[in-house]
Amino acid sequence: MRRFVVIGSRAVASGRFLYQDLPGTSGRLDVLLRCMRAALLVSHGVRQDAVVYLVLLGGYGAPRSLRVEGASVRYLRPDERSLATLVRKALEEHPEGPGVTAVRPGVAVARGGLDAVIADAGACAWYLLDEGGEDLREATLSAGPKAFLLGDHRGLDEATLARVAALGASALRVGPVSIHADDVVAVVSNELDRRGV
Ligand SMILES: C[S@@+](CC[C@H](N)C(=O)[O-])C[C@H]1O[C@@H](n2cnc3c(N)ncnc32)[C@H](O)[C@@H]1O
Repeated sequence: MRRFVVIGSRAVASGRFLYQDLPGTSGRLDVLLRCMRAALLVSHGVRQDAVVYLVLLGGYGAPRSLRVEGASVRYLRPDERSLATLVRKALEEHPEGPGVTAVRPGVAVARGGLDAVIADAGACAWYLLDEGGEDLREATLSAGPKAFLLGDHRGLDEATLARVAALGASALRVGPVSIHADDVVAVVSNELDRRGV
């Protein structure tokens, strides 16, 4: 099982954004949506062994976190507008109150940010995707469940880095150049595919 956790430092937790100007009105939720696509969708299919968490830290209602499970999600399409619709509906259907709420097959929302995700993910080996980490190609990865955490266009703040350090996360780089978050997810997914893990 592979999990990707994307921290949206300003991604709106309210679902209030304009479809016609997603980058300009959503706190760059578009970055997170592309990560979701890269983690969950293959050509003509959905990865059954992948789970994505989007951590929404921006605006009204924040923090909230969205979980999408490849094994059970339905009608997942690759275009950003469809993915944005899925996120908006999930946020709108999420009731007040604590805990994780399943809002439709394969999609759940929780109040809370990274701590809520850590609690929900359970036991797994944590990896921080960071340009300064060990080369992914050389790294020995856990044979069990794995969680890969990455930032949005703004990177990760000190509090998040401290929280994942406390989890014992190993830092991994996918290459020497800082690339877009969704490209990082694609490279990691490809490496896991090649290793068959
Ligand atoms: C667009 S980058 C962030 C750039 C931001 N300006 C910064 O300085 O952190 C988004 C995220 O992708 C991940 N990332 C980008 N390039 C990477 C690389 N070569 N190896 C591992 N992770 C990378 C990091 O988690 C980063 O927070």
